[in-house]
Amino acid sequence: MITYSTEKSFVLQMDAKDPLAQYRDQFHIPKQTNGEDCIYFCGNSLGLAPKTAKAYVEQELEDWAELGVEGHFQARHPWKPYHEFLTEQSARLVGAKPVEVVVMNTLTVNLHLMMVSFYRPTPTKHKIVIEANAFPSDQYAMQSQIKYHDFDPGTSLVELSPRQGETTLRTQDIESFIEKEGDSIALIMLGGVNYYTGQAFEMERITKAGHAKNCIVGFDLAHAAGNLVLNLHDWHVDFAVWCSYKYLNGSPGCVAGCFVHESHANNFDLPRFAGWWGQNKETRFQMAPDFDAIPGAEGWQLSNPPILPMAALRASMDIFDEVGMQRLRAKSEQLTCYLEFLLDQIQSADINILTPRDTSQRGCQLSIRVKQKGKSLYEKLKQHGVFCDWRQPDVIRVAPVPLYNTFEDVYNFGQIFSEEFQQL
Ligand SMILES: Cc1ncc(COP(=O)(O)O)c(C=O)c1O
Repeated sequence: MITYSTEKSFVLQMDAKDPLAQYRDQFHIPKQTNGEDCIYFCGNSLGLAPKTAKAYVEQELEDWAELGVEGHFQARHPWKPYHEFLTEQSARLVGAKPVEVVVMNTLTVNLHLMMVSFYRPTPTKHKIVIEANAFPSDQYAMQSQIKYHDFDPGTSLVELSPRQGETTLRTQDIESFIEKEGDSIALIMLGGVNYYTGQAFEMERITKAGHAKNCIVGFDLAHAAGNLVLNLHDWHVDFAVWCSYKYLNGSPGCVAGCFVHESHANNFDLPRFAGWWGQNKETRFQMAPDFDAIPGAEGWQLSNPPILPMAALRASMDIFDEVGMQRLRAKSEQLTCYLEFLLDQIQSADINILTPRDTSQRGCQLSIRVKQKGKSLYEKLKQHGVFCDWRQPDVIRVAPVPLYNTFEDVYNFGQIFSEEFQQL
């Protein structure tokens, strides 16, 4: 147990003994006009650029310039199998077997591809369960899938809300709902971490409850990949999707990830939207008309991979893989607990943290509800070089990221936040 302190000497000591301290220098930290580093707490939205990303991308540009089409085979990292360079690292990241993961497309596209295969509504079992206030793209994707199957989102899309007076869901309530309503539920599809509240769902328990009622269980890991230790294979999650531009620092709009549990790897009867990159690699270039899917997640690929964003992602994943999620998570828990400790010092009824206090129920993000003057406070934070974000109607989201944030960042944030709040 760490005894947190409001003394500056405490954070300097914490940073001095931080085993991950060296990694901050591997990222470009945006600067203030006075030349000082900004406090970048927006890694839950867009991660920072690894300094190595440029060289990784330039290598592909050089190979393209020198080799033209031959780069597919002759590039230093040949483009034909390029996505495979990310497979093992992605598998370790989400606790999967290599056959279960693939890097392709973008998150919402992958979500649709997964629902084409795994949302198979029948007249009696047609509902999709999501958390209330799920990310809008997920809601649109699910509504449109429901309509695509000629069902009505008004009755087939079910939103789970917290109890009256509470801000996050209780796992036992999710389990009881599934137990009670499971016969009519086709798919349970939650965020691994809710983007708004920062609540991390207990994926193993939810998957177990879903499977007990014959429901398919998938997760949107946009806010969980690179944030939490995940064990998708052992938890028997059916499918999951994630983006790589947040905690994974892949670059803006970078290529996304997709997990399909091994138990579905050889199920070629599942309907799917197919493309040539999902075709058996031995026969792909015979250009035959009949589709023969690659077993596992790769069989869901559509197109040949975009090399430049994947090169940037490789730069970041090399760093991630070297550090490992266990070590990142250990530091992350401390950073966020320290942030919580500092916010608790303010003691005002106008400030409360929506995110669960239990560290096992959250990632690095804290969502701070600031009554009345939240937007002005957010604007003040920005003027001090703090990157965080504002979510209507009254929430400031703050994400200290263990790969490049320091205890001193959190300390400075706490000072600025508290002083500006008192002055408003
Ligand atoms: C939880 C969640 N789902 C879906 C998306 C949409 O991702 P994309 O634009 O990559 O499809 C985001 C983007 O921020 C997100 O946070």
